[in-house]
Amino acid sequence: MIVVTGATGGIGRRLVDQLLAEGAPVRALTRNPANAGLPIAAQTVRADFTAGQPLEPLLEGAEALYLNLAATGEQGTQALIRAAGNAGVRRIVFNSAMAVTGLAGRPSLIGQLHVPVEEAIRATGLEWCFIRGGMYATNSLNWAPAIRATGTVHAPYGQAVVAPVHEADVADVTARALLDRDGTHNGTVHTLTGTQPLTVAQQVEQIGQAIGRELSFVEVGEEDALEAQVAHGVPRPLAAELLRFLAASVGAVPEMTDTIEQVTGRPARSYADWARDHAADFR
Ligand SMILES: NC(=O)c1ccc[n+]([C@@H]2O[C@H](COP(=O)([O-])OP(=O)(O)OC[C@H]3O[C@@H](n4cnc5c(N)ncnc54)[C@H](OP(=O)(O)O)[C@@H]3O)[C@@H](O)[C@H]2O)c1
Repeated sequence: MIVVTGATGGIGRRLVDQLLAEGAPVRALTRNPANAGLPIAAQTVRADFTAGQPLEPLLEGAEALYLNLAATGEQGTQALIRAAGNAGVRRIVFNSAMAVTGLAGRPSLIGQLHVPVEEAIRATGLEWCFIRGGMYATNSLNWAPAIRATGTVHAPYGQAVVAPVHEADVADVTARALLDRDGTHNGTVHTLTGTQPLTVAQQVEQIGQAIGRELSFVEVGEEDALEAQVAHGVPRPLAAELLRFLAASVGAVPEMTDTIEQVTGRPARSYADWARDHAADFR
């Protein structure tokens, strides 16, 4: 049995499908099983990591656990790691972040959320694998309301270059690590990025191509971008860090890996693939 936290999330949903396709039994965790729309082949179980519910029952009979901080939160994550040890789980695969190594080897604020989780998992003595993703293509979904409403994206640093990674690729690598049929993933860090450098403005253009509509990109200044993010609930230090990252990415070559191809045997999906897969979100 493989337990998937955040099973309705960007990665989680793809991961559940992939594990089922590989014949693995899956326990998919969500706060709302009735509305989750998860496959009936999965055992869908209610879990809310802010509700203080007992965690061991969620892990009963599980061989492997997929841990996603977006679902389990800082405290829930540590509790779930302890519960995994108690429940006899053999292996934890953690959805970590490239930000762990940050700039010049120092973890960024986002990285600092993931470092204690990696440390706690290492300390369990269980088998582990860390999937450190770079910039997710799903971040572009933040533009969806504006694209649907006006066809114009207002964003800072249009010439910042990144290599967005498709959540389906993250899910495919994660599935391999969870199943780990030959033990090759144990004690391994997989750093996942896309393989195609693209500016922010080019990403908007590719979304336009996917939905057959000409979109406009309007670059906004750093101050306006910061205030807009804070107004959307992003903590100010995090928003400021993201802007510093984008500023440093203008005209730069982003760090890229071929880990997706190494692990899955086929090239990473492109951003154009991602935009086509998500066309309905932007129409
Ligand atoms: N964005 C990036 O560029 C980036 C880069 C590297 C790493 N990451 C990592 O990836 C994570 C995001 O992964 P993702 O995109 O797959 O997440 P996601 O799409 O935001 O999904 C998270 C899922 O967690 C569930 N959830 C939320 N609160 C919960 C609670 N209290 N109890 C139980 N479940 C809860 C939700 O499912 P229900 O509503 O069904 O409960 C939701 O579907 C980030 O937090 C970060 O750790 C992100």
